[in-house]
Amino acid sequence: MNAPHITVKDLTMAYGDFVIQRDLNFTIDHGDIFIIMGGSGCGKSTLLRHLIGLQRPAKGDVFYEQQDFWHASDEERTHIMRRIGVLYQSGALFSSLTLAENIALPLGEFSGMGSREIADIVSYKLALVGLAGFEDYYPSEISGGMQKRAGLARAMALDPEILFFDEPSAGLDPVSAKLLDDLIVSLRDTLGATIVVVTHELASIFAIGTNSVFLDPDTKTMRATGSPKKLLAESNDAKIIQFLTRGESNADKPAQKGEILP
Ligand SMILES: Nc1ncnc2c1ncn2[C@@H]1O[C@H](COP(=O)(O)OP(=O)(O)OP(=O)(O)O)[C@@H](O)[C@H]1O
Ligand SMILES: [Mg+2]
Repeated sequence: MNAPHITVKDLTMAYGDFVIQRDLNFTIDHGDIFIIMGGSGCGKSTLLRHLIGLQRPAKGDVFYEQQDFWHASDEERTHIMRRIGVLYQSGALFSSLTLAENIALPLGEFSGMGSREIADIVSYKLALVGLAGFEDYYPSEISGGMQKRAGLARAMALDPEILFFDEPSAGLDPVSAKLLDDLIVSLRDTLGATIVVVTHELASIFAIGTNSVFLDPDTKTMRATGSPKKLLAESNDAKIIQFLTRGESNADKPAQKGEILP
């Protein structure tokens, strides 16, 4: 358990010849709630794609514990990917399926379980995210916050060791966003999972982040890694302080009335 869960080493990410970020070096420990932060377009989602197996590095490596993710065989990489759960930005529930059917989908595909067992697990996962009894609802029949939580239940269907979230609270009101934050922390505690979150939201960053990496779109590399609270207290980097005090990257979003700031 002492070795980092994920190690990113000398990672350069590019689309063709266009480099998005270079020389990324950081580690994510078991049980971390690790925040990927930085202004719009700096490469946060791109980094997530490199960590979950959707995009190959231009240079450098990603390790899961000791295993070299991108130099492993396809079979080994798929094996690692099975231990990963992802909640995409859109939530991406299938609108024509009930919540139970949405969550059963990965179980039916990968677990080899029978339908009775799958139904039990679906109910258990829904209960974990506070949606007990909502099995037969369609996504359109529940609120945005509930949809996010259902997406989370689906991401957890196969008992992942690591959960990835891209902007989980985007589009949620502050109260629902806070509930989702609380849920993320309690899942980390009860499941013992490692959690990686892409977020702009300062309130979330400080409330749940135990570690982070800050990506800078201008220099195209990371400027810091560490606990967000510690960075705020100790960093001498004006750009980081500006980000962590004003949320400049939120400037392109409409201000929400009554938004809770740290
Ligand atoms: N498929 C693609 N092909 C070429 N360039 C891309 C592609 N996807 C993203 N980019 C570019 O890569 C850069 C980083 O994009 P990315 O989506 O990772 O940023 P982000 O930090 O997640 O932004 P946001 O906060 O807006 O979600 C941007 O300049 C974007 O235009
Ligand atoms: Mg993004």
